[in-house]
Amino acid sequence: ATPQPPTRGALIVIEGLDRAGKSTQCSRLQQRIPNSRIIKFPDRSTPIGQLINNYLTSASSPPLTDQAIHLLFSANRWELLPSLLAALSAGETLILDRYIYSGISFSVAKGALSYEYCRSPDVGLPLPDGIIFLDLPPDVAAERAGFGGERYEKREMQEKVREVFKTVREREQGEWTVVDASASVEEVTERVWAATEKALRWARENELREIE
Ligand code: TMP
Ligand code: MG
Repeated sequence: ATPQPPTRGALIVIEGLDRAGKSTQCSRLQQRIPNSRIIKFPDRSTPIGQLINNYLTSASSPPLTDQAIHLLFSANRWELLPSLLAALSAGETLILDRYIYSGISFSVAKGALSYEYCRSPDVGLPLPDGIIFLDLPPDVAAERAGFGGERYEKREMQEKVREVFKTVREREQGEWTVVDASASVEEVTERVWAATEKALRWARENELREIE
């Protein structure tokens, strides 16, 4: 018989505001899913990622325009695409800590760029098999730990981002699951796992699609 290629890996995305518990949930998933890896966006280790890091930590002077930084966040995803696709077709499951949905939400929340403008550079990237949004009111998030010094870590900005994320969930294709991130870590973990099992099943039976 002809040797069968390995089943592709699944593409799972965890989204949410800062301090919603994304890192914790990503590492729990990674431990639970054999042959899986966490990819964090932005990936600050690349040259594009370093420009993004400079922007977020206010080290770029004068600061990049809203358009320029928006396109860099997207370019940071496109530069990783070949390695993401190679991993998926080799059967590795990827757990993404943020993706294009943060890209749209944060840039639209700044007020000057339209929704259509913000989503367009990411068209053509792979569509996730499941998107899990960890929802947490910004005031609850603020109680968990103080804001760091990065550019978007401000209460009013986080409130706006949360609003735009609602629109994103209505408009963007893909299987969305909203998990109340103010529940206990164990409860959140179980809900995230239930959504992930669905995504893993979907990925076994369906080809990877592109964001349209
Ligand atoms: P991080 O805290 O997960 O490293 O993300 C850094 C910040 O960048 C965070 O405030 C969210 C924001 N962001 C965007 O504005 N656009 C994007 O495309 C991504 C991935 C993150
Ligand atoms: Mg952060």
